Parts: sequence; structure tokens; C-alpha cells
Amino acid sequence: MTIFRWLIEMQSAGQWQEVGNLSAHAVWYGPTESSKAMNIGISVLEEFRGQGIGSIAQRLLAEELHAQGVVRVEASTDVINIAEQRALKSAGFIYEGTLRKAQGRADGVHDLQVWSHLS
Ligand SMILES: CC(C)(COP(=O)(O)OP(=O)(O)OC[C@H]1O[C@@H](n2cnc3c(N)ncnc32)[C@H](O)[C@@H]1OP(=O)(O)O)[C@@H](O)C(=O)NCCC(=O)NCCS
Repeated sequence: MTIFRWLIEMQSAGQWQEVGNLSAHAVWYGPTESSKAMNIGISVLEEFRGQGIGSIAQRLLAEELHAQGVVRVEASTDVINIAEQRALKSAGFIYEGTLRKAQGRADGVHDLQVWSHLS
């Protein structure tokens, strides 16, 4: 699986500084190119959270992927991750539903919310 990654940088006093990163990978819902969605992920460095960066970065990435021809941009997040759910809502994503017991991690298998941003 190819995973694309981007740095999120912010300019402050003339200097560019890394404040987080974004990723995206393809998810296929059928064999045709028009069945390809891109699933995105984000991490904002702790000291830069709560400043709108997560919302803006995810909106900009969705818009860039739409400009590249991707109709469906999706994001999945743990049902307890309120910050990401609010960031996705602010970025223009729509909540679609919950995937039960979808993601296994060290502390167990978690339910995931699915959100999407359409071109
Ligand atoms: C989730 C994350 C990307 C959000 O980025 P951010 O830059 O802090 O988000 P924003 O500042 O754009 O805030 C977005 C919304 O979340 C809210 N929010 C931010 N931190 C919050 C928190 N800890 N708890 C509840 N809400 C929170 C903001 O108030 C804002 O809500 P509003 O739009 O209704 O005003 C960031 O917290 C992060 O990197 N977390 C760790 C990694 C992670 O969870 N990634 C997503 C995995 S799927």
C-alpha cells in the first residue's frame, strides 16, 4: 500500500516551522478508477493543537485531492476522539456512520467513526 505524507508547516517571524503531518492512502470500493477514495490521517504536534491547524490542514488536503480528481475523501477516527471529530466537522466533512470493532490497537479493538468530504 502506498502512503502519501505531507508536513504541515507554519510561518512565524519569517521562519517555517513544522507543526504536524498529514497522510493519505487509497481505499478501493470497486475495480474502476472512479471507485477509488482517499483516506486521510493527521497529527498536529501537541504544542500547536487547539489553534485551528487540524481543521484548516484537513480542509486544504481534501480540496487538493479533489483538484487532483478524487471525488471522495474520507477520514476515520476513534469514537472517543472528540477533537478530531470536531476538526473534521469544521473542515467540512460529514459524519457517515460508525464501523464497529474496526481497529485493533494495543488496548483492544476500537469502534471508528467514518467521515467524508465530497468534491
Ligand atoms: C485531532 C487533531 C488533529 C486536531 O487538531 P487541532 O489543530 O488541535 O484542531 P483544531 O484546533 O482545528 O480544532 C478543531 C476542533 O476541535 C476542538 N478541539 C481541539 N482540541 C480538543 C480537545 N482536546 N477536546 C475536545 N475538542 C477539541 C476545537 O475546539 C475545535 O472545535 P470547533 O471547530 O467546534 O471550535 C489533534 O488534536 C491531534 O493531532 N491529535 C492527535 C492525533 C489524532 O488524534 N489524529 C487524528 C487521528 S484519526
